[in-house]
Amino acid sequence: MIGSLASPAHIHDGEGGPLRYAEANKTTIPRWQVGVPPEGLGKGGVVAFTESELIAARTGGLLALGFNEAMRGPLPRSQEVHIALPAYRGKRLVPVLAWLAVERLVVPRGRVAWSMTKQQGPDSVRAVLDGLGWNLDKQRAGRVVRLHGEAPAAAALPLPRGFTADLGRRSGVDLVADYGVFSPDRLDEGTALLLDIALREPPVSRVADIGVGYGALAIGLVLNGIAPSAVGTDVDAIALWLSEENARSNSVPLDLALSSDPMAAAPTPLTVVNVPTHIDAAETAAFMASLVERAQHGRLLIVVHASLEGRYVRYLSSHGPLQRHPGPAHVVLELGSSVGIESRA
Ligand SMILES: C[S@@+](CC[C@H](N)C(=O)[O-])C[C@H]1O[C@@H](n2cnc3c(N)ncnc32)[C@H](O)[C@@H]1O
Repeated sequence: MIGSLASPAHIHDGEGGPLRYAEANKTTIPRWQVGVPPEGLGKGGVVAFTESELIAARTGGLLALGFNEAMRGPLPRSQEVHIALPAYRGKRLVPVLAWLAVERLVVPRGRVAWSMTKQQGPDSVRAVLDGLGWNLDKQRAGRVVRLHGEAPAAAALPLPRGFTADLGRRSGVDLVADYGVFSPDRLDEGTALLLDIALREPPVSRVADIGVGYGALAIGLVLNGIAPSAVGTDVDAIALWLSEENARSNSVPLDLALSSDPMAAAPTPLTVVNVPTHIDAAETAAFMASLVERAQHGRLLIVVHASLEGRYVRYLSSHGPLQRHPGPAHVVLELGSSVGIESRA
């Protein structure tokens, strides 16, 4: 049933094979579109890299799911796949998308088109694909370059890059972090400060990590016994995929939502946020208002660079006593409510 796939792209069930995908296998998809191509979306299913792409596809009445869900598969296959190569993700994503196309989306001997701008280096993308057994023709239309041809019979999924981190009392935690996600080489200093402060909190039944990235905070808090499980949100489906992988490899129960709304995760007695500070003023206002709503149900801990403290204090200070926990370069702001706060076990 196609309708079941079009329901909000959320929640990882930990099994890697939701029933809805099996049901969807009975359907045919005329074409899969991975990302939104420069000329806009046509007919067919959409694999979205971001929440905005997911919304654009669903607004157009298309079957759509997040990249993280598509990686989990299986999915109904189509004759044709169009991959709009996302900018700022690096060439290392190309073999991952090649795997997705071959092993999840296209029928044997089906056709795949890759589109990108000249700035994205089509010749080096083609060289990567050549090395993986693809034989592609090249076409140019204005700023857009298209590489197209028959998909090879098989593809291997490369391992993402990663690093080993000390998360509270748990040392040597392996985390994958790649393809342009936030702080890919090491734990961010703000994340480390927030983890340190959150580890002083009493244990709770569940923790939410808003803007979860590759999952360092959520995973660190569960591994240190602050909560038995976590929920995370992010607007970036590649980050969600990595956080799913990290949660699985560290045996951490983590549910995920591809959403810009912090309230997309059900209320929790503790919410942690390493705040995305590059989003625009209107998005920030909506984001902070939704965090304030979360704080009505439990403690909220956010971290920002110390130079930005004033900007975020403004959103929180009229909603209850605000505590600050300064670190060397960042500050954690704490807004707590007695409602929903659980006592020390
Ligand atoms: C500063 S990074 C923190 C990542 C991770 N929590 C960590 O500490 O490593 C902020 C994250 O928020 C995500 N993001 C941006 N806008 C968002 C929104 N409105 N809702 C949820 N996540 C968002 C970004 O994609 C990014 O992964």
